[in-house]
Amino acid sequence: MKEIALHILDIAQNSLAARARRLEITLAEEGETLTLTIADNGKGMSPELLATVSDPFTTTRTTRKMGLGLPLLRLAAEQTGGALSIESALGVGTTVTARFGAAHIDCPPVGDMAGTITLLLQGAPEVELTYTHQVEERRFTLSTRELREELGEEISLAEPEVILWIRDYLQEQEALLRENKGMKA
Ligand SMILES: Nc1ncnc2c1ncn2[C@@H]1O[C@H](COP(=O)(O)OP(=O)(O)O)[C@@H](O)[C@H]1O
Ligand SMILES: [Mg+2]
Repeated sequence: MKEIALHILDIAQNSLAARARRLEITLAEEGETLTLTIADNGKGMSPELLATVSDPFTTTRTTRKMGLGLPLLRLAAEQTGGALSIESALGVGTTVTARFGAAHIDCPPVGDMAGTITLLLQGAPEVELTYTHQVEERRFTLSTRELREELGEEISLAEPEVILWIRDYLQEQEALLRENKGMKA
């Protein structure tokens, strides 16, 4: 996949498929490391399933049809000298952490996070989503809980006007994270 945002869209779908009500997506860019965390309170995985999804070579040998979302993210991270780790507990939830070597030539760009977050919200407007993006000392957070408090309960976050507002807001905040980056002493 050419963008980290597309990996996030894919991995977050696993959380929604696991009936997560809370989803926390964090991107942290510090020095030469980019760390992506996707944490949910979905149904979680058994230790057996966890061992299988963690290993792309095991999945090719099973008769069960397995997807490639996690193996592809692992590959992308490892190609930059980073790593993937998954913590999961049945009935509790799952946390996927991918570390990328941000200075590595194979590190994908972050890409269209405004698109990823708004697509997730359109598909699952009820989910309690927190998205935080940090670049060095700058950061911002989008919290659907705070948005709902502003909008009132009767307005769905999937309303076109709301989605467009969120997309514009995210695009603006993403741009601010990068603004004047080379200018600092
Ligand atoms: N957040 C999650 N919560 C519960 N189960 C998960 C989660 N993420 C992945 N899984 C399990 O791991 C499997 C493999 O995930 P993935 O590699 O994305 O492929 P796919 O989603 O196409 O099956 C999923 O089918 C699911 O059983
Ligand atoms: Mg998947």
